[in-house]
This record gives sequence, C-alpha cells and structure tokens, in this order.
Amino acid sequence: MRLHVANHPLVDHKLAVLRDVETHSATFRLLVDELVTLLAYEATRDVHTREVEITTPVTTTTARKLATPRPIVVPILRAGLGMLDGMTRLLPTAEVGFLGMQRDEETLEAITYANRLPDDLSGRQCFLLDPMLATGGTLVAAIDYLLQRGARDVTAVCLLAAPEGLKVVEDFVGDRADVSIVVAAVDERLNEKAYIVPGLGDAGDRLYGVV
Ligand code: URA
Repeated sequence: MRLHVANHPLVDHKLAVLRDVETHSATFRLLVDELVTLLAYEATRDVHTREVEITTPVTTTTARKLATPRPIVVPILRAGLGMLDGMTRLLPTAEVGFLGMQRDEETLEAITYANRLPDDLSGRQCFLLDPMLATGGTLVAAIDYLLQRGARDVTAVCLLAAPEGLKVVEDFVGDRADVSIVVAAVDERLNEKAYIVPGLGDAGDRLYGVV
C-alpha cells in the first residue's frame, strides 16, 4: 500500500478551517469540495493515458489523453458524497458508482446497505472517496468489495486518517493489489469512540446535519 500525504499550505489552511467546531455546514461543504480537488490532483497522478494525434493551430503532433476504460469514482455514502464534485471536477469523464456503508456504532463493523457498481471492474482504475479513515473497517470492506469484482488498482482519497486505520488497511491489502491512499493529513490517534483525534468530528453530520 502506498500512502501519500498532501503537503501544501492551501491544504493546511483549508483543513484548519474544516477542523474548527465553529465552521458551519455551508462553509464545511465548500471547503471539502475545494480540498478534494487539490487531493484529486495528487490521486490522479498515475491515471492511465493514451497517445493521440492532434492538430494545433500551428502543426500536428502527438499528445496524451485519458485512456479507456474510463476510471470509476466510488463515493462511500453518506459522507463520501460530499467529495464527489471535487473529484469529478478534475475527472469529468469518469464513471460514478456508489457504495452505501455504515459503521455499527456498537461493534464498529462496516455494514454494506447499498451498492451500484459494474459487476466487472477488471482493468478499471477505481477511486474510493471516504473522508475519514478511522478504524479502517469501512475502507477495508470497500476495497474488498472492489477486489472481489476484479479491481486491482484502487486509490482511496480521504481527508484525515488515523495511524490505527492505516495499519488495518495495510495489513489487509498486503501485496494483493495496487492500493494507494491519498490523504490531507494523518492525525494522532483514535479516541475510545473511534473518532479521529484531533479530527474534525463526524464528517457526515458536519456536511449534512444530524439526520
Ligand atoms: N467518522 C467520522 O466522521 N469522524 C471520525 O472522527 C471517525 C469516523
């Protein structure tokens, strides 16, 4: 597993405002969107391209464009949905699948309650969106889901990760597939309720309210 921690003053600034308990939903949503666009730039560094012939106003030349099959972006509902626009802004031709996952607050296990994905993901570059990599349970379940459908190239884009969750994902992935994690910051630890510390609280609630 490869870990890429974004290292940029704008990422730090936006993250500082996101973490602030005084930041309300409308600003929070906007900042998540902007932050994901910055992370998307890093996350797509190895996106497949193909050589094409083009004609400029001056001459003909070869250039590179996104290859097919198209990459697939998979937000993990609910909170991952807040990251979708930021990602597809840079990858507008990507397909979008959905995975509905929820963690059982008692057992902290991930439960899949919805999915809309192609049956065959072999040869597809997959981008999972999940803001908080906390225990790693949800992300492992999501990666497992994609691997079972043939995916071998998975990049997870997260806002924050806990070291405990990163270890869980790393142990699960081993050398089974090419898995990368792109994250704005790795925080200190999880608390007894499996929240990331210092974190930003419940990402889904901060994006969409407590419903
Ligand atoms: N999910 C969240 O939304 N926040 C955390 O801190 C951990 C998991």
